[in-house]
Amino acid sequence: MTETMTLDGFADVRDAFRQHDLEQALYDAGGVVMADCLLVLHGQRHRVRRRVENRLFRRGTFRYWERSFLRDVVADTLKPFLAAGRADLLELGYRTIMNLTAMVAGVDQPRGTVEETDDLYRFAKKFSEGAILVHSTRDPDQVRAEVSAALEEFDELFLQPSVQRRRTLLDQFAAGEVEEDDLPRDVLTALLRYWDELELTGDVLRRETAFYLQAGSHSTADAFTHAADDFFSWAGSSPRQAEAARRDPVLLQRCVYETLRLHPASPVAHRRALAPITLRSGVEIPEGAFVVMDLAAANRDPAVFDRPDTYDPLRETPADVPRWGHAFGGGTHACIGTELAGGVAPQADGDPHDQVLGTVTLMLQALLDGGGRPDPNRSPTVDSSTRREHFSGYPVVFGAA
Ligand code: HEM
Repeated sequence: MTETMTLDGFADVRDAFRQHDLEQALYDAGGVVMADCLLVLHGQRHRVRRRVENRLFRRGTFRYWERSFLRDVVADTLKPFLAAGRADLLELGYRTIMNLTAMVAGVDQPRGTVEETDDLYRFAKKFSEGAILVHSTRDPDQVRAEVSAALEEFDELFLQPSVQRRRTLLDQFAAGEVEEDDLPRDVLTALLRYWDELELTGDVLRRETAFYLQAGSHSTADAFTHAADDFFSWAGSSPRQAEAARRDPVLLQRCVYETLRLHPASPVAHRRALAPITLRSGVEIPEGAFVVMDLAAANRDPAVFDRPDTYDPLRETPADVPRWGHAFGGGTHACIGTELAGGVAPQADGDPHDQVLGTVTLMLQALLDGGGRPDPNRSPTVDSSTRREHFSGYPVVFGAA
């Protein structure tokens, strides 16, 4: 029988993330959308794919994005909700991040309409439900059937036209008719360009694109909703501190990091041991063991975080521990979108202008600047289709109280 081990200490989880003999095991049930995706590949196959996709996520890319257009994307998405005087944070979060994630993935939206974004939102939610099937409370076969149907529809409506446009551009590039700079900088273009080296098939391409769409959007929308919820509670108990944070981007980003620590979108990581492993703490993991890395518990490890259950964005943390704990994972599978979602905290002795806020902080900032607060007449609802701690709805209203 397979032995199951749980690691819930901060240091053990960090050490385990760095072990090359621990293979991804969280998405076995979610194969309908996750099979052969970057997040489940191991060893050399993972290295080769990650190297190709990583080029899009080079340091500085998102600093440039934030300075050139991210604020506008956030403001434009918020505008109709401000005008209506109300919003649901999940819908607002998804709408904002959907277009960005589609851009990163390489999924074109030729009509540029809200309906198109809503279609992608519908697909991303379904793909996400398929990916984390392991935590679903629904009938798994039913979920698989719905995800397969969504993949087919997504392929026809979005993916194939996006592939065609890029293939044409790549042919023109090969013929010397367009320059490297004319090629879109997105995952899909990279995959089509290095097709043979990556040993891809049409099905893998479809799943990888679908995976990006959901990995980027679901976790960001979830982080945004929790960040707002935590901030609202804090504003109730510590109004002066919260008001100071609302006006200071460095502090507001710390608020988001504290939320990510307390409510990581992925509360656990699962791995399988391909060989016997001894962690630095002396913990022995036998070959074949199934390892549950409890990120949510490790992020509340009292050996690392003082008063670990308290939301305290002003807390001190050890220099070698990110304020978000393990929310973005670690080791070879560490989140490729960390900088886009979480930004880059300013260095203690660095230029504050070097700070990249990240989309979650930009979204929280725009929400608070618009006077967003919980709807006094409608309470948030919790998503009962998963055992994860996700909201399914979070009504807010705007304007002066
Ligand atoms: C607040 C937002 C986000 C959170 C909390 C988050 C969290 C994570 C975590 C925990 C992992 C590692 C899972 C594991 O090791 O089993 C991961 C991997 C990944 N994330 Fe994110 N993520 C976020 C945003 C994004 C965005 C915006 C993108 C892309 C646009 C993205 C793309 C990915 C990809 C491609 C991987 C797989 C990396 C690999 O296997 O090499 N994520 N993310």
